[in-house]
Parts: sequence; C-alpha cells; structure tokens
Amino acid sequence: MANRETSANSSAGTAKIQPATGKLGVMVVGLGAVATTLIAGVEAVRKGLAKPIGSVTQMGTVRLGKRTEGRSPLMKDFVPIADLNDVVFTGWDIFADNMFQAASTAKVLDKDLLQSIRPYLESIQPMPAVFDQFYVKRLQGTNVKKGKNKRDLADQVRADIREFKKKTDRQVMIWCGSTEIFLEPSAVHQSIAAFEKGLEANDPGIAPSQIYAYAALSEGLPFANGAPNLTVDLPVMQELSKKNNAPICGKDFKTGQTLIKTVLAPAFKARMLGVSGWYSTNILGNRDGEVLDDPESFKTKEESKLGVLDYILQPELYPELYGDIYHKVRINYYPPRGDNKEGWDNIDIFGWLGYPMQIKVDFLCRDSILAAPIALDLVLLMDLAKRSEELRGIGIQEWLSFFFKSPMTPEGLYPEHDLFIQSMKLKNTLRHIAGEDLITHLGLEYYD
Ligand SMILES: NC(=O)c1ccc[n+]([C@@H]2O[C@H](COP(=O)([O-])OP(=O)(O)OC[C@H]3O[C@@H](n4cnc5c(N)ncnc54)[C@H](O)[C@@H]3O)[C@@H](O)[C@H]2O)c1
Repeated sequence: MANRETSANSSAGTAKIQPATGKLGVMVVGLGAVATTLIAGVEAVRKGLAKPIGSVTQMGTVRLGKRTEGRSPLMKDFVPIADLNDVVFTGWDIFADNMFQAASTAKVLDKDLLQSIRPYLESIQPMPAVFDQFYVKRLQGTNVKKGKNKRDLADQVRADIREFKKKTDRQVMIWCGSTEIFLEPSAVHQSIAAFEKGLEANDPGIAPSQIYAYAALSEGLPFANGAPNLTVDLPVMQELSKKNNAPICGKDFKTGQTLIKTVLAPAFKARMLGVSGWYSTNILGNRDGEVLDDPESFKTKEESKLGVLDYILQPELYPELYGDIYHKVRINYYPPRGDNKEGWDNIDIFGWLGYPMQIKVDFLCRDSILAAPIALDLVLLMDLAKRSEELRGIGIQEWLSFFFKSPMTPEGLYPEHDLFIQSMKLKNTLRHIAGEDLITHLGLEYYD
C-alpha cells in the first residue's frame, strides 16, 4: 500500500542540486562576539579540538522513509552541504582588530582555545566597513570607508565582493553586525530604481546594512541577517533576490529567550491552556547589550522579540485563552555578565475553569555560544539554496524560519514561529529537494 506516514507525496523535487565543490567564501558583516565565536569555532572543529554542538547541519539527522527502514543519515551527508574544510572567512568591521584580538575582546572563548588557533585568527583582518553613527548611536570606529555618497559606498562593497570571488568558488554574506535604529520602509525601498536613486541622493532611509545587502544581492550572493534590522524585508531586496538568484531569509537569530518562548507557547496552545501574561527580562553585558541600551536600537529588537507570541497563540482564533495577554520584553545592559546573558520569564497561565498558575524560567545562557552554530547553519544552507535549481530563484527561503526570531514570508502570508513546525518545514524541504517522500507522521500503515 501507499506509504501513508511518509505521505504519498508526488511533489518530491526532481530539480538538480549542484555539488558543493570548491571553496565556499563566507563574508561576515560585523566581526564581533558572534562572528569571532563562529570563525574560531569552525577552525577548532576543523582541527578536531571541539565538536560543532548546536549546529543542525553538522550534528542533526533527517529520517527518511518509514520508521522501520532505519534510514536517518546526518543532514550533511544527506544533502550536498559544503564541507567545513572548504569554508573560507572574510568580513568587515569598524574596528581594525584581527580575529584573534576581536575574539579576545569578546571574551566568549577560553584563552587556551584562542591561543591554539592564534595564527589562523590573526590572518583574518577586517576590511573597512560602511558605517554611519546615525544608525548605531553607541558605536564609533575608525576602520570605515569614505565615499562621495551611498552609491559610492555600495560600489566599494561590490568591489570587495569581486575581489573575494577571485579567491573562492561560491560566496554568501551574513550580517553579524550591531542592531541598527528602528526604521520603517519608505518610498525609496519600493523598487530597484527608487533605491538606486536613493543611494545617489544619500536617502536617510538607507542604513548601512541595506547597502551591504544591496551589494550582496546585486552580485548574486545569498544574504542572511542575524540582527533585527530592516535590511532585506523590503520590496527592493526581494526584487533583487529573485532577479539575481540570490536567496534571502528572515532576521534576528533565534538563540536564547525567544527559542524557549517558541517551545513553551506552542505547548500551551496545544493543551488549550490560557496565558494572561508573559514578562521577559534580560541582563547582558557584551557590546550587543551596550548597543541595545540605546532606545532606538532597542526598539528594533523589541519589535522582533514581541512578534512571536501573537503568531503562535493566535488570539483571534482563541480570544478566551489569549485575547487579553500582557506581553513585555526588557533588555538591561549589565557589564559584569559579559556575553553570559541571564533571561528570566514569568509566565502567568490559567487552566481548567480559569484557575491561575505560574511558570518561571531562568535561562543562564551564553549568547554567542548559542548564536554561532545558527550562523554556521545559515551560511551552509543558504549556499545549498543557491545551488538548488528549485530554491535559488524563489527569493525568500521560508524553510529557514527555524533559525530566526522574525522569519520572512511573502506578502499576505503569516510566519510560522512554532519551533517544531519550523523544524519539520526545514527537514521536509531537504527531503523534497533531494527527491525523498515528505513525512506527515500519519503512520497508519504500521497497523495494517
Ligand atoms: N548573540 C546572540 O544571541 C544574538 C541573537 C540574535 C541576534 N544577535 C544579533 O547579532 C548581532 C551581533 O551580535 P554580537 O553579540 O556579535 O555583537 P558585537 O557588538 O559583539 O558585534 C557586532 C560587530 O558589528 C560591528 N559593526 C556594527 N556596525 C557595522 C557596520 N555597519 N559594518 C561592519 N561592522 C559593523 C561592530 O563594530 C561589532 O564589532 C547583533 O545585532 C545582535 O543583536 C545576537
């Protein structure tokens, strides 16, 4: 009989995926705590000094076929993902420190580990950045490009990309830079033509992150956004993405508190338990915390962190359970903790006959330790998307929602925030492009 658990899905992709041969060049914008933890971590894994824990592409498996078949290859063996030995890093920062100095300043990784890979880290030097303090109030740096207008700056980033193209076979760009001030889309973002005019005219609606994204997408590079900035969720970027087969995806890495939120909230909804309040507060003392201490950058982060509950709990469908929820998110800069964030959640829920209960979560996490494997997975999967005939031209890669606080969707489609729906979507997309049956978990055929 038809394999019902694995779905009689006939839509299994037959389109080709080019092999991951040659060097994958990863261009990182912002070489701070997350980026140095990523770059040093990849080198440590390559040298056999540590394991890539937290990386879905390196450690995760994908079940294929029926449960009785025992086929669960590693994701990296199932689809052609670039080998870590083929990954080459470069990037930009407003500080000229090499990766050893920057990782030492970030104080995420042990000195011993950094010493053991010191020559490698010292060999990576940031290129001068496109930066304007108007968009990140708390930072000031000297390793900054000069240009007669934003168009000139975009051309300089494109020249950097072209240089890197000579040294590597394929390239992706990822934003690991600071959170910029809150911006809203305007007329300048509505088309490529309007944006290019805006670059010439130094339109204030064009932030540095948009200049990098414009340069990447114009050069055909996929672009992933680790921060909550308004960077690629703009018509101009979607147009460029499709036009140049340069995939884009959501924004703001889903690392600590929001990860837990998108696990707990679906559980309450699945059990039809009500939620009356959710108070989330954080203390962190790294440079990201300092930047987010500025109200304008915090606003950008707040919007991203607040969005998830509404979409998961669907108050419009369940007004008695979630129609009157009080949701608050706070981030407090507290230097003694450095990169080791503490996130508290107080959740007021109610059950049978409306009786109230409380849940307290205290997550003593390490921000960049959680973010680095996400950044790695994103660059590897965006490169895979670029090599997939079926995915490269669709623009937004919604199947990568799993990694983001603010997943991206086409206009009119709400995003999926539930971590387990996102995980299923990710794995089913890989099954689909590899020509395997999708898994629906129906499973009735085991009882025939
Ligand atoms: N670590 C996490 O858990 C996590 C989770 C989600 C999102 N993020 C986001 O990731 C980003 C990086 O976080 P981090 O902890 O590494 O911060 P960080 O402050 O250590 O590093 C950011 C780096 O970006 C640089 N930068 C700023 N603007 C730049 C520009 N225009 N061009 C080039 N470089 C620029 C800064 O100089 C700094 O070195 C932040 O936006 C943060 O909000 C982090």
